[in-house]
Order: sequence, then C-alpha cells, then structure tokens
Amino acid sequence: MTWRTRSSLAWLREQPGVRENEPLASRTSFGIGGPADFFLELARADAIERTIDGCKQRGIPYLLLGAGTNLLIADRGVDGLVVRVVNRDHEIEGTRVRAGAGLKMMRLARIVADANLRGFEFAIGVPGTVGGAVYQDAGCWGKEIREVLLEVEGYLPGKGRQKWSPGVLNLGYRTSALREGALTGALVISATVQLERGDGEAAKQLMAKLTRERNETQPIKTKNCGSVFKNPPGDSAGRLVQAAGLKGAREGAAVVSTVHGNFIVNEGGATAADVRRLIERVMVEVKRRFGLQIEPEVEMVGRWK
Ligand code: EPU
Repeated sequence: MTWRTRSSLAWLREQPGVRENEPLASRTSFGIGGPADFFLELARADAIERTIDGCKQRGIPYLLLGAGTNLLIADRGVDGLVVRVVNRDHEIEGTRVRAGAGLKMMRLARIVADANLRGFEFAIGVPGTVGGAVYQDAGCWGKEIREVLLEVEGYLPGKGRQKWSPGVLNLGYRTSALREGALTGALVISATVQLERGDGEAAKQLMAKLTRERNETQPIKTKNCGSVFKNPPGDSAGRLVQAAGLKGAREGAAVVSTVHGNFIVNEGGATAADVRRLIERVMVEVKRRFGLQIEPEVEMVGRWK
C-alpha cells in the first residue's frame, strides 16, 4: 500500500479521463471481479504511454486490460490503475496487415477475409483483442498467432516505443515475454501479421464451419473465460476434467461446464472466490486421480486474500 501517498493519489486524479473506484466485472467475459482503484480508457496510445511512465516513476501498480476474456479479477478489485487502450485501427498493405491492439481478433478475421487474405481464419475462435492475443500467444484449432506474426509495436515504460520481433517476444503456448519475461508491464500498440492472398469467400465458409463446431463443443453463450487450464503436453485438460467426473462440479454459482470440461461458467452472481475454489478443487482432483499437475491458463489478478 506504499504507493498511496497524497501526491500519487493527486497525480492519478489529475489524469484526463481517469475514473475512481470503477467497476470491472462488466469489462470481463466472466462478469466477475471488484473495482479498479483508478481506471483509464483511451484510444490514443501516446496518452497511455505517458500515464504508465508516470505510474512506473511513482511506483503505482498498473494493469493493462484488453477485452478481459482470459481474466479472473479478485472480488476485492485491483490495486492502482487499470488501463485499457482501445485503438482499433487497421491497415492492409498487400498481404501484410497491421492492426491496433484494441481490435478484436474475430473482427480482424472478418476484415482480412473481406480483403481476400487467408491464414487468419483461426482468429474467428479467439475471443480477445489483438493485444491480448500477442500477450499470451492466443490461438484456436491448433494454430497460434505466433505462426503469422511479423512484428509488434509497443511501449516499454522508461525505454520508449519499440518494435519487437517474434523472437524477442518469446512466444510460446499461451505465454510471451509480455506475460512473463523481459517485457512485463509493456504496452502492445499494434501487431503486424503476414497472410496469404486467396479466396475470401472460402475463408468465410471455413470460419462459419469452425464457428458451428465451436458452438457445439464449447459453452459459447455463457459467462466464461475460455479455457481455464492449459492442456498438459500430449493431453487435454477438458478430457482429464471429464474423466475425473468433475463436469457439473459447483462452488457457489461457478460450475464446471457440462458441455466442455475446461470451461467454468458463471451461472449468475458467481464470485471470484467461488471460481478460484473450483479451480483448486479441479487441480487437486486431477492430480489425485491421474498424477498430473494441470496449470491454470486464466490469469488471476487483483487483491486476493
Ligand atoms: N474433451 C473431452 N471432454 C471435454 C472436453 C474435451 O473428452 O469435456 C476431449 C475432446 O473430445 C478432444 C480433446 O479433449 O478429443 C480436445 O478438446 P477440444 O478439441 O475441445 O480442444 P481443447 O484442447 O480443449 C483447445 C484450446 C481452445 C480452443 C480449442 C479449439 C487450450 C487450452 N484450449 O481446447 O482455446 O478453442 O482447442 O481449437 O489450448 C482458450 O484458449 O481459451 C480456448 C478456448
């Protein structure tokens, strides 16, 4: 709590557009979590850069939020400042596409199909933003963003704007140097992907087919955070949860989906504590039954007890 000095609080309150004690639950796909002490949502990256630099200088913790689709926010909320960059611009040059971090992956998938580009159809199954996808090397149907990524433009507080190659980003299954590594706390501004020229109609048909499949195998219409656990090498967390007899397991209003074992559904009014208890219960039970330690993929942030 050391950052809460009178001057730091005064500085935060001076930031144009900042809101205090801002509810976050509705900004997550889970619909769960307490408020941010301070919250700032801006379309312009440069204003956000100045603000996170200021936070860094003053020792104020900050959290960069995308679409909140892989996040479990604690019931007691988030310390310091939560920042959301909502730049949704895009630029197509031949087969290269640069997209703002705030653009949704699903939206970009449709945009590039309209431009007769192929190789991005998998993104129709990725719920979050471009920035969030880079942060955790998101993917679907066995394809991850790293496979098409050329370069990312970002901002490292104290160091300025930078361009990061996939190598520097150190992308791996649901992780990167932004999530755990030399670039933690850095802001993603835009990402450039390399696609291929092709038949946009065929891309759209494939995406429609993949979406139908996803509708049948995942509880799409519910409040959830996507896959809760990473798949252990050579196996599937969903299969393991099912084999452990945990589909339908409940803590409060949080339930292991009966459709897909790697989803937890907020049936309405679930707390972060409910979800966390259920996650821990599943991990213990899978370990007890199969001797396998599964790890959460969902990121837990904020003030946990
Ligand atoms: N399975 C079961 N029971 C279940 C669920 C799955 O037996 O309750 C079996 C399936 O029959 C299949 C295998 O487990 O043989 C794998 O299941 P699925 O094809 O549904 O894929 P997944 O590995 O569970 C991954 C990604 C998803 C992505 C899908 C579709 C991870 C952790 N998850 O799921 O990504 O949508 O493939 O490609 O890698 C996400 O990351 O948030 C996410 C939803």
